[in-house]
Amino acid sequence: MATEYDRIGRAYSLTRQPDPRIAAMISRALGDVRTVVNVGAGAGSYEPAHMAVIAVEPSIEMIRQRPIGSAPAVLAHAESLPFRSHSFDAALAVLTIHHWSSIPAGLTELRRVATDRIVILTCDPACEDRFWLVSHYLPEIIDLDRGHLPALGQLQEWLGDLEIRDVPIPYDCRDGFLGAFWQKPEAYLDPAVRRGISAFAKLPSDAVDTGLARLLDDLRSGYWDELFGHLRMQNNADLGYRLVIVKSSS
Ligand SMILES: C[S@@+](CC[C@H](N)C(=O)[O-])C[C@H]1O[C@@H](n2cnc3c(N)ncnc32)[C@H](O)[C@@H]1O
Repeated sequence: MATEYDRIGRAYSLTRQPDPRIAAMISRALGDVRTVVNVGAGAGSYEPAHMAVIAVEPSIEMIRQRPIGSAPAVLAHAESLPFRSHSFDAALAVLTIHHWSSIPAGLTELRRVATDRIVILTCDPACEDRFWLVSHYLPEIIDLDRGHLPALGQLQEWLGDLEIRDVPIPYDCRDGFLGAFWQKPEAYLDPAVRRGISAFAKLPSDAVDTGLARLLDDLRSGYWDELFGHLRMQNNADLGYRLVIVKSSS
């Protein structure tokens, strides 16, 4: 059966390449594990080359974009992983849990198959309005994420003790996710950039059109720079992206 990403993910890898600084943080969070299941693996970003990785991905369209030579991929969902219990040292889930039909069911599966740790990259919904695109132009994103993007406290209820690491987003982030262009507002006016960001596909098109028309006006008039021009001097921004690490001893 076709999945959402079979429709919205066709041009994913054009703008969504792994960012090396985020990759290094993920690699550090995985530590010295040797086997990893990457769930919601998409086109293969952030799969550590020095570990034995199996990818799990429900969208054929996303699997099709995996580079030649990347880890083998299994067509499956997080909520029902086709592996025996304790098959991997670690389970990795990068910018995917908010897409799952049942996050608790998926997390139970990660726990079942991973013996050492779970590493999740997600966004803290409590920080969403820190990002000017959301707070000033597309507040509808907060409604869109409500019920999908779990609070960190909720993750703790489901997973037990968590270690949480802030993931600052560099000004020249190579992975074009929603917050990546915090210092380059013009980028959101580019349809190719928006095609790599699921929120734009999920929001009503009139909300996107209205928000982007205001952004364009504010860029032309200089109002965006009046409000947010100080960001052009920053190297990193904390937009609420977080690495969540659960070790089996916790
Ligand atoms: C934003 S992409 C992230 C892909 C990749 N992890 C990355 O960082 O580039 C979200 C991915 O989650 C996948 N996904 C959606 N529902 C899923 C589910 N129930 N189980 C596993 N993956 C799912 C989508 O097909 C898509 O490939």
